Amino acid sequence: SAAEKGGYDYFMLKEIAEQPKAVADTLLGRIDAAGSLSLDEVRIPASVLREVDKVVIVACGTAYHAGMIAKYAIEHWTRIPCETELASEFRYRDPILDQRTLVIAISQSGETMDTLMALRHAREQGAKVLAICNTNGSTIPRESDAVLYTHAGPEVAVASTKAFLTQLVACYLVALYLGQVRGTKWGDEIVSVIRELSEIATQVEEVLETMEPVRELARSLVDKNTVLFLGRHVGYPVALEGALKLKELAYMHAEGFAAGELKHGPIALIEHDVPVVVVVPSPRGRSVLHDKIVSNIQEIRARGARTIVIAERGDEAVRPYADHLIEIPATPVLLQPLVATVPLQVFACELATARGNEVDQPRNLAKSVTVE
Ligand code: AGP
Repeated sequence: SAAEKGGYDYFMLKEIAEQPKAVADTLLGRIDAAGSLSLDEVRIPASVLREVDKVVIVACGTAYHAGMIAKYAIEHWTRIPCETELASEFRYRDPILDQRTLVIAISQSGETMDTLMALRHAREQGAKVLAICNTNGSTIPRESDAVLYTHAGPEVAVASTKAFLTQLVACYLVALYLGQVRGTKWGDEIVSVIRELSEIATQVEEVLETMEPVRELARSLVDKNTVLFLGRHVGYPVALEGALKLKELAYMHAEGFAAGELKHGPIALIEHDVPVVVVVPSPRGRSVLHDKIVSNIQEIRARGARTIVIAERGDEAVRPYADHLIEIPATPVLLQPLVATVPLQVFACELATARGNEVDQPRNLAKSVTVE
């Protein structure tokens, strides 16, 4: 009913709008007064976490994209090798797992059969399993050694939005916590990132307040048959997520690429007026990647692409090559997906509406996939 949707036309719009609160709620009580993480609820003892020599993340769909981003954060802050794998592929390749492997299973519903089968396989091999889940008491957390709940609240729309942002927050918390417990050379950075995480909810709010041009742009693309998405580093999974949202909601062909791969094939797809969304890394920090992606934008634009550029506010270098510029607040490099994904959700939702699609219940899809 309209009341359940809190005055919004669709649950998806309501859930997009709830993201600042979902992010804040997921952080609540997990950072102590001294600015350290307290994750006692993760009942895997610190002594066990110190012995972990490999992290494997399993998930599907949007949760898998959160897992891909987590890999960058975990390897950077903990120096533990980490791989992220589609849950549906995981057990069939006979993965190498033992007591020192930490498997992280990410699932909004906690009932996704592919993810459940992956974690059962991992536990049979003796690995410890930590679930990141949004649904209290669901099967995946019940069958795991430990759980870190995301506090997004119920997500009704089939397309995941607020659950994704909270999965990212939970992944960052786990990465920072592992770093904190194990003590790495990134100690100071960990402390400052924990502080900056507390600002993120406000920054997501700022993004939401500036979305009208994104909606207008989406409506202007209603007759396109393809949209491409490019990103690098943590922007690459963001590009994949933008493409997935567009496929499931707008039923349009959409594909995400790592921008560095363009020249190895996908650039052949660029022709006059093809919309290409580019997620630009911050010009600070990893500036080499920033400069490389600016060249990519120039290259595709020279070949006719219509460039839709998502960049940090004040990034002047991209401006001359952006047919449409979507500015996002500055965040630490690894946290950028929390703000960069939001315009892509709004974009897909608006395009779906403009195409007359059922936003909350896309065709052929179910909210949780309980078959393998
Ligand atoms: C995302 O918009 C999806 N509808 C889908 O990819 C989803 O993320 C995936 O099926 C995993 O679901 P889960 O998080 O409940 O395990």
